[in-house]
Amino acid sequence: HWRMSRGPSGTCVARGLFYQQSAAMSTLLINQPKYAWLKELGLSEDNDGVYNGNWGGKGEVITSYCPANNEPIARVRQATMAEYEETVQKSRDAWKVWADIPAPKRGEIVRQIGDALRKKIKVLGSLVSLEMGKIYVEGVGEVQEYVDVCDYAVGLSRMIGGPVLPSESKSCCTLFKGLDSWQSHRPGHALIEMWNPVGLVGIITAFNFPVAVYGWNNAIALICGNVCLWKGAPTTPLTSVAVTKIVAQVLEQNNLPGAICSMTCGGADIGTAMSKDERVDLVSFTGSTHVGKMVAMMVQERFGRNLLELGGNNAIIVFEDADLNLVVPSAVFASVGTAGQRCTTTRRLMLHGSIHDVVVERVAKAYKQVRIGDPWDPSTMYGPLHTKQAVDQYLAAIEQAKQQGGTVVCGGKVMDRPGNYVEPTIITGLAHDAPIVHTETFVPILYVLKFQTEEEAFAWNNEVKQGLSSSIFTKDMGRVFRWLGPKGSDCGIVNVNIPTSGAEIGGAFGGEKHTGGGRESGSDSWKQYMRRSTCTINYSKDLPLAQGIKFE
Ligand code: UN1
Repeated sequence: HWRMSRGPSGTCVARGLFYQQSAAMSTLLINQPKYAWLKELGLSEDNDGVYNGNWGGKGEVITSYCPANNEPIARVRQATMAEYEETVQKSRDAWKVWADIPAPKRGEIVRQIGDALRKKIKVLGSLVSLEMGKIYVEGVGEVQEYVDVCDYAVGLSRMIGGPVLPSESKSCCTLFKGLDSWQSHRPGHALIEMWNPVGLVGIITAFNFPVAVYGWNNAIALICGNVCLWKGAPTTPLTSVAVTKIVAQVLEQNNLPGAICSMTCGGADIGTAMSKDERVDLVSFTGSTHVGKMVAMMVQERFGRNLLELGGNNAIIVFEDADLNLVVPSAVFASVGTAGQRCTTTRRLMLHGSIHDVVVERVAKAYKQVRIGDPWDPSTMYGPLHTKQAVDQYLAAIEQAKQQGGTVVCGGKVMDRPGNYVEPTIITGLAHDAPIVHTETFVPILYVLKFQTEEEAFAWNNEVKQGLSSSIFTKDMGRVFRWLGPKGSDCGIVNVNIPTSGAEIGGAFGGEKHTGGGRESGSDSWKQYMRRSTCTINYSKDLPLAQGIKFE
């Protein structure tokens, strides 16, 4: 139909189709002058959703909708299984080239990717805002995270490496003359640790951070010497395409195979294929605990490697000595920001009995001042939920909370305006262990809990299945260190006097328990993208065995 309507229309049927088609096209936002900037990202009405050095996409066509008005933005042609196969093959071929390039030179390519992203940061941030629905500054902010992790990875490309460890050699054993260990000395041996890339890293990302999470994985995996195959969320395909175009241009300008950073847009079919595929050495998955578990089982079944960034159920604990001028904006940012759709969103606000009422009152007042509007409008602080299904989940969670004894003190309703807007909501009066409080609903509902003792608050923080992020507000130094210690927070991210969300890229990002245990981005997260070899090299003319064993 599409081809016919584009050609000269000789018959009435063809002309009819032409009008039908142009009507459908004119409803796409990308064709409206207001959204002409999308073309600066190389996007058009129909976009190829496969990249492996060449662009393709012969699979199902999906339309991407704007959550702020549910109007179609543009379309993407996803990957078929045959295209997935071809892409994996090309990625593995590209690895043969990439693995031979010295790490600092790989860092130079990542530096160029960071620079290319800098040039497009506003327009790419705008696309994130339009397609995901988060506010413009948050859209730009997550491109900034990709830029930052590129800078970080450039430095890392000259720093990663392993130690030279003491072998059971003569020099150290002479100290213990007369002891048994004297028997086991191994002169002329070097014991070193080598780190090599795992190979092909499959990266499956979620709708809520459609740029940053890919960025953390991509930049670090690349300098380690891996190639990447990305499947973004099926509801943010335009962002995946736009990012891949920026990255692909850098690779192509450097005469490198584009398949170093491949992409196959798709749904569960592609995700399952990646999880089961022995050629995908590491599967990095960000998303729900439910899907993450399925991915983990499929990867484990083949003894593959996975890196999981799953759900959170993050708490802010406010003690009686807390600075409430820090608490109130922190609670609002972390629970309302990104409309409650960060894995680091604060879902539980635990307040000491002595300050409970005053904090609830101040936070509720601040909620009413949150400016709700079009996410791309610079003054907006709060935009829509990503999908209609999320609106249903929001309503169902509020209903359950009420049934379990909760009181809605703020919000609680779907908003009467186009798009997936719901009111940011505060619910008090629930038991710390009410089932709904232990459930991560990916919407802006904050459950306020009242506690009396530190022991109780720390226990409640840790009693949920998830273990991503956590914060306390206090001035008591002893309490701070108890919080950081073995009986404190069991989360991967443990904060003091700052919110649960908004982690910097320099630290290792991830969490424990049902959050999946993976670590991405900073610190030594690079180790997850490499395999370690313990290497013992004998440079003597003898063959002394370790542990003093004689075998003759
Ligand atoms: C996520 O929600 O998946 O710490 C990631 C934060 C952001 C990343 C969140 N830097 O809130």
